[in-house]
Amino acid sequence: MNIVIEDVTFTYPSGTHALRGVTLRLDAGEAVAIVGENGAGKTTLVKHLNGLLKPTTGRVLIGDWDTREHTVARMAARVGYVFQNPDDQIVERSVGEEVAFGPRHLGRTPAEQAADATAALEMVELVEHTKTHPYDLTAAQRKLVTLASVLAMRTPVVIFDEPTMGQDARGVALIGRIVDGLKAEGRTVITITHDIDFCAAHFGRVVAMADGQVLADGPAADVFTRADLLATTNVEPPQLVRLAQALALPRAPLTVEGFVETLKGSGGAGEQGSK
Ligand SMILES: Nc1ncnc2c1ncn2[C@@H]1O[C@H](COP(=O)(O)OP(=O)(O)O)[C@@H](O)[C@H]1O
Ligand SMILES: [Mg+2]
Repeated sequence: MNIVIEDVTFTYPSGTHALRGVTLRLDAGEAVAIVGENGAGKTTLVKHLNGLLKPTTGRVLIGDWDTREHTVARMAARVGYVFQNPDDQIVERSVGEEVAFGPRHLGRTPAEQAADATAALEMVELVEHTKTHPYDLTAAQRKLVTLASVLAMRTPVVIFDEPTMGQDARGVALIGRIVDGLKAEGRTVITITHDIDFCAAHFGRVVAMADGQVLADGPAADVFTRADLLATTNVEPPQLVRLAQALALPRAPLTVEGFVETLKGSGGAGEQGSK
């Protein structure tokens, strides 16, 4: 399902111009990370994709649906959105009911709801907490519950707003595997993240925003090696890129394997290491 964002501006009732003309096209199956400093307009932009916000001018198409012509409830069948703060999302009194909420509202049968909820809770490794009250879990676990709620809906488009925030290394790895699984199924995955290493590892395309506009949009390897641009957006390049630049390597790879290859190819540490 393709997404078209066409010259969208958005002004909050308070008068803040949060989006100042954003145009993007996302093809089905793409994995796109949106980066940029606080207040850049990232969350405002993704809230346009599930219809929570409607453009002040311009338009947003999800497949053949213009978000202005469909309710949020209807958009939910196409776009799943995991809020930055899980406490803005959780409404039910048990983890199982919370995760079955979406499938229920999509009109699935009780048996389907249960199957969807269980499958999603298995993905986030919380199935043993099905009967637990969400507020008896840690904040990091509650975030995983909200991830499961969206996974249970099996939408073609999935949006994660700061998914790794507050997660330990195991949680980050788990979320990385979930993202990779969604990509393998051909679903569109969009994330907002400050976790640049997570982004470099799982997202091929990076959109950098500042002040309600898109400053750069391209392959992660290109966007993350543009020091000038990252300085404007207050985004730190990934650690491997910084290391490659500090060593004056000819390329700045985003993966450990690529880094080692580049290092060997440059004739540096590879030979010294064999002494
Ligand atoms: N509910 C709101 N009401 C008024 N202004 C808002 C609201 N939400 C965000 N803003 C403002 O819109 C701008 C963009 O915010 P946001 O989309 O949350 O940015 P980001 O997600 O990149 O941090 C900021 O100036 C922010 O203060
Ligand atoms: Mg935000």
